[in-house]
Amino acid sequence: MPCPSKLDDLVFFVNGRKSAPLALAVSAFGSGFKDAPLVRLTGTKYAYGGGGRGACTVMVLKRDPLSAKIRHFSITACLVPICSLDGAAVSTVEGVGGISTRLHPVQERIAKSHHTQCGFCTPGMVMSMYTLLRNHPQPSEEQLVEALGGNLCRCTGYRPILASGRTFCVESNGCQQKGTGKCCLDPGGNDSSSLRRESDICTELFAEDEFQPLDPTQELIFPPELLRMVEKPEKQTLTFCGERVTWISPGTLKDLLELKAKHPEAPLISGNTSMGPAMKYQGHFHPILLSPARISELSMVSKTRDGLTIGAGCSLAQVKDILAERVSELPEEKTQTYRALLKHLRSLACQQIRNMASLGGHIISRHCYSDLNPILAVGNATLNLLAEAGTRQIPLNEHFLAGLASADLKPEEILESVYIPHSQKWEFVSAFRQAQGQHNALADVSAGMRVLLKEGTDTIEDLSVSYGGVGAATVSARKSCQQLVGRPWNELMLEEACRLLLEEVSLPGWAPGGKEEFKRTLVVSFFSKCYLEVLQELKRLGKLMPDSHHYPEISDQFLRALEDFPVTGPQGVQRYQSVDSHQSLQDPVGRPITHLSGLKHATCEAVFCDDIPMVDRELFMVLVTSTRAHAKIISIDWSEALELPGVVEVITAEDMPGTSGTEDDKLMAVDEVLCVGHIICAVVAETDVQAKSALEKIKITYEDLEPVILTINDAIKHNSFLCPEKKLEQGNIEEAFEKADQIVEGEVHVGGQEHFYMETQSVLVIPKAEDEELDIYVSTQDPAHVQKTVSFTLNIPINRIICHVKRVGGGFGGKIGRPAVFGAIAAVGAIKTGHPIRLVLDREDDMLITGGRHPLFGKYKVGFMNNGRIKALDIECFINGGCMLDDSELVTEFLILKLENAYKIRNLRFRGRACMTNLPSNTAFHGFGFPQGTLITESCITAVAAKCGLLSEKIREKNMYKTVDKTIYKQAFSPETLIRCWNECLDKSSFHNRRMQVEEFNKKNYWKKKGMAIIPMKFSVGFAATSYHQAAALVHIYTDGSVLVTHGGNELGQGIHTKMLQVASRELKIPMSSLRICETSTATVPNTIATAASIGSDVNDRAAQNACRILLKRLEPIIKKNPEGTWEDWIEAAFEQRISLSATGYFRGYKAFMDWEKGEGDPFPYYVYGAACSEVEIDCLTGAHKKIRTDIVMDTCCSLNPAIDIGQVEGSFIQGMGLYTTEELKYSLEGVLYSRGPDEYKIPTITDVPEEFNVSLLPSSQTPPTIYSSKGLGESRMFLGSSVFFAITDAVAAARRERDIAGDFTVRSPATPEWVRMACVDRFTEMIPRDDPKTFKPWSIPIA
Ligand SMILES: Cc1cc2nc3c(=O)[nH]c(=O)nc-3n(C[C@H](O)[C@H](O)[C@H](O)COP(=O)(O)OP(=O)(O)OC[C@H]3O[C@@H](n4cnc5c(N)ncnc54)[C@H](O)[C@@H]3O)c2cc1C
Ligand code: FES
Repeated sequence: MPCPSKLDDLVFFVNGRKSAPLALAVSAFGSGFKDAPLVRLTGTKYAYGGGGRGACTVMVLKRDPLSAKIRHFSITACLVPICSLDGAAVSTVEGVGGISTRLHPVQERIAKSHHTQCGFCTPGMVMSMYTLLRNHPQPSEEQLVEALGGNLCRCTGYRPILASGRTFCVESNGCQQKGTGKCCLDPGGNDSSSLRRESDICTELFAEDEFQPLDPTQELIFPPELLRMVEKPEKQTLTFCGERVTWISPGTLKDLLELKAKHPEAPLISGNTSMGPAMKYQGHFHPILLSPARISELSMVSKTRDGLTIGAGCSLAQVKDILAERVSELPEEKTQTYRALLKHLRSLACQQIRNMASLGGHIISRHCYSDLNPILAVGNATLNLLAEAGTRQIPLNEHFLAGLASADLKPEEILESVYIPHSQKWEFVSAFRQAQGQHNALADVSAGMRVLLKEGTDTIEDLSVSYGGVGAATVSARKSCQQLVGRPWNELMLEEACRLLLEEVSLPGWAPGGKEEFKRTLVVSFFSKCYLEVLQELKRLGKLMPDSHHYPEISDQFLRALEDFPVTGPQGVQRYQSVDSHQSLQDPVGRPITHLSGLKHATCEAVFCDDIPMVDRELFMVLVTSTRAHAKIISIDWSEALELPGVVEVITAEDMPGTSGTEDDKLMAVDEVLCVGHIICAVVAETDVQAKSALEKIKITYEDLEPVILTINDAIKHNSFLCPEKKLEQGNIEEAFEKADQIVEGEVHVGGQEHFYMETQSVLVIPKAEDEELDIYVSTQDPAHVQKTVSFTLNIPINRIICHVKRVGGGFGGKIGRPAVFGAIAAVGAIKTGHPIRLVLDREDDMLITGGRHPLFGKYKVGFMNNGRIKALDIECFINGGCMLDDSELVTEFLILKLENAYKIRNLRFRGRACMTNLPSNTAFHGFGFPQGTLITESCITAVAAKCGLLSEKIREKNMYKTVDKTIYKQAFSPETLIRCWNECLDKSSFHNRRMQVEEFNKKNYWKKKGMAIIPMKFSVGFAATSYHQAAALVHIYTDGSVLVTHGGNELGQGIHTKMLQVASRELKIPMSSLRICETSTATVPNTIATAASIGSDVNDRAAQNACRILLKRLEPIIKKNPEGTWEDWIEAAFEQRISLSATGYFRGYKAFMDWEKGEGDPFPYYVYGAACSEVEIDCLTGAHKKIRTDIVMDTCCSLNPAIDIGQVEGSFIQGMGLYTTEELKYSLEGVLYSRGPDEYKIPTITDVPEEFNVSLLPSSQTPPTIYSSKGLGESRMFLGSSVFFAITDAVAAARRERDIAGDFTVRSPATPEWVRMACVDRFTEMIPRDDPKTFKPWSIPIA
């Protein structure tokens, strides 16, 4: 096709500068702004290519052709076709502000309110908040939550980001400039004396009055050149040709229709939120793409007496505003359909996607999960179509939605607009949806329901019901509805309707997406909600017309079922102990100092591994992985791949000069693959696009092998284990069971968890020409392990390899072992090709290859007295380790060691085994088995409480450690702090009062139940080996007095570098601004230990302290001689006197050991305690839940930095909450991981945070053997997220008790809406058809 338009005809601005798009071309389609060489803006993070993550949020400014106003809206850059930006201006985080230019108030507040941890999500957060403020300089709380709802963060608990946003919601009284002349790193910048205190307890983490005010006049404006251009738009068609794709953007409707006639197969790219993911992930390819962006006719809106016509080109965000306006203008009876649409538009995707996605694109995509199509269908919407030949209308009905040719658009037609009629009196429209999460999650089932009653009666005159998510398309229950016409709206009708609906909307047991029983239940549950809604309306209407018909009564007990859970941002208080009033102001220890990289995160000046600019001759590597779970590799043929342009090499295990990993854990498969996702080889090419296209050309033939073991059950049957059983025992368990009043046995299943660090695994290997040296920039928690693995693989000494870690965009355990594999493979590529190699995993590959938390299956037997005293506990658990050993043995050991949690039970037996299965190897994850294992222990407590008829908290209290005692492995400890945490938590949460209120609530409500739980925690910190606690640091003082600190810990977002400088500042008695940390490098501090097990900051701080003390000792004579001198004077003098100003500090580690033979030891240096209380409300009809309140009391002893520690507590709690409530991995029967992106795998969003979220750091009372008596918090509080899980199960139990359901329910984590709904057994769950499992192959299998 001829390409008449020059690429220069495409005009758009980025950050106020006209972009030369020549190099972007159409090939940059959908890659965001990062890969485009001329606008390499690394702040826009590419965390996932399918939208819905928020890390790539940018703001677009566009002139609305109809209103002539400039619109500012946020979008996800990863889905933006560059050509669609013609006539637009884009602001990225780089354009918002910078440290050396002008810091924007949003950036300043996000950083100083301690939002940033790893900082990978921060630029996206900045852009969402910045866009909000461009539209609403003083936003409401609701607008703030809506704006941030599409931005995921894996580190923080979202509370700090809301806290920073809230500072804009109210009148700011901050001064123009801070004006103190101090660096914000110094305590003056975070002086806790200016923070709110209750006696020695502080409740604020930052001082708001120090913030710069927002000045909207300072923002970038819409570029005048663009304005002139869009005011007098060119009408000619623009055509841009890329390598494979041609983008055509007509300037008039006539031209668009002509083009559509000429290229009937070409899709219209409106928002690209449907086409983009289909092209990226499903291999859809369209050589010609038509853009309707310049056609103003498609954005027209017209209001008539009977309805509303909305242009197909309007974005869903605009549709939301249009509907809201119409609702405010018209009487309620006319706006039933609009209200129903509005309800779903609030939760459909996130704001960025709603800003991009068009109404037309949504309707034409006909996604089976569509939220809007079921409502439009029941609302009798009509589609206005256009073609060269003329216009016509078709109904948006089930035939259209099913894609029947006779009811569909013709290939040459386009959708111009959608007509939605007003509703009428006695007509009611309802909308329902249920998803894994409340927001930003595709619905499992969505529904639109409309009923028209005969005026003044309850007789059905017309009824329409449509469902999404229960078939390949939106399904209409037309037959059922027809049969119900003429029936009165009463219980009998409901019963009959449910029967009919279940017959008509049938869903096979093997249906894609699974959850068939849940979905069937929702089909009828939603109808029952509609039934109640209409009854309530009738009751209201009945009151207005006292003489009219008598309507069925609606019981007050059912009314709350009609209330949707509101979307609110969390409120709460953070309490911590302020520093001693005598502490020097300069001494930063114990103060809420901002994360060292906070401002750099917010301005995107913080460099992550893949932000490093392309180096000379760099090549890109992608990995080729197995598609079979267990098979022999018969052949690999990459000849065709090598012929592709740009493809340079294919790397296999044979290319490794040294060893390919260990016997148990090979870097690449050789003859046999052990899981889907097993690395077989790697392709090296000039660009990532070329490398990825080569993947399709590599032909691998397999011969399937038996057995394929995927589940723990299968592994037990096949006796397939990775390591010997680990066992601990105390007392006489058999005898104790005999003496117990009662015995309960049960099972617990805990699903796995994906790390979901925002920065995927990344490495850049640069080979040097000299002496076989390699520089490796890698995102890892353990650079020394990468270094060592590369050394073995290349067979060169360790001293030739230098690993650098500037910062890591989240690790959570997932970057301890795996980065070494990627580093070694990339290093082999670098040696073989002689080129630098960059290997950055896509999200889907990362999720597929790297494994995660071990799924667990546990069996317990607990013997107890009738008063709740537990006499004996026997737990046997199995974890699904995947196909290689990795850390599975260690995880099993930790699991067993920590199983007892906070309880003293005299007779115990704990056994654990790691199963070998044909799944990707599972690995370290926050808590190392503790969060899974302890769920069994706490479930036992709940089971005992249920049997004794006592409250769980009473059983917990009764069995908790009370005095100095010994653990099951005979380590002595004092539980005093544990008890203090428990009591404070009871007190701070007003537990007992609220418990009574919960019970009252449950008595009054049938379909909604509340639940409450308080969980104690005793968590042991560190590794069970002294050598794993050693640490070193290197401190250099330069002649100007500035100090460079290096240590063996890695900055993962946990603030280790900040704490390190706080320590060094105290030790050297100089301000933090004189100190600096550059990176972690194996060249400066060798033989480091992984930053893990909550001990990283602790031990490295000790090493830094040691180095500082050595230096200070050397300086002592000089200081003594000139006590009035300055630091600079002393350093100058020391240099003159030839005193070394560089010192290595060393910490030999805490003594720790474990003798598994004897089952005893002192495996942990100290314990961290805590308690959390959560309250939830569940919707028994849908399985949804709302977190009402969480109170956490955490023992940090003397926190080094309360802002960082509170942030860590909140973040980890939310991560734990995700583990126990929404994060669910789905595997096929063939061992393929389905859930490989944020669409299928749901981590908590801002709307998932408890409405009230309070965190208190317990004032110190002990002196642990740690630096300044501070405790390592790392992973411990993850488990506290289980308080939400137990609150949910408490609510479920209340529902079951009321319904008289005998028998316990199996504890299964996560407590997803599916689990909750199916556990709340009722008449609707009873009426659904059940399939015989032997008659079909399910879509997915549980592997725990
Ligand atoms: C992260 C994410 C989350 C999401 N969450 C939800 C959710 O919670 N609920 C939900 O219902 N949906 C959800 N979606 C789907 C989303 O609603 C649709 O992708 C979107 O509405 C499609 O609109 P678009 O303008 O982007 O379509 P495009 O991708 O541009 O086009 C889609 C199709 O429509 C056709 N088309 C577009 N305009 C016209 C026209 N005027 N005439 C004829 N054909 C046309 C195109 O040819 C193409 O075939 C989500 C999508 C993403 C990416
Ligand atoms: S700080 Fe948000 S993902 Fe790390």
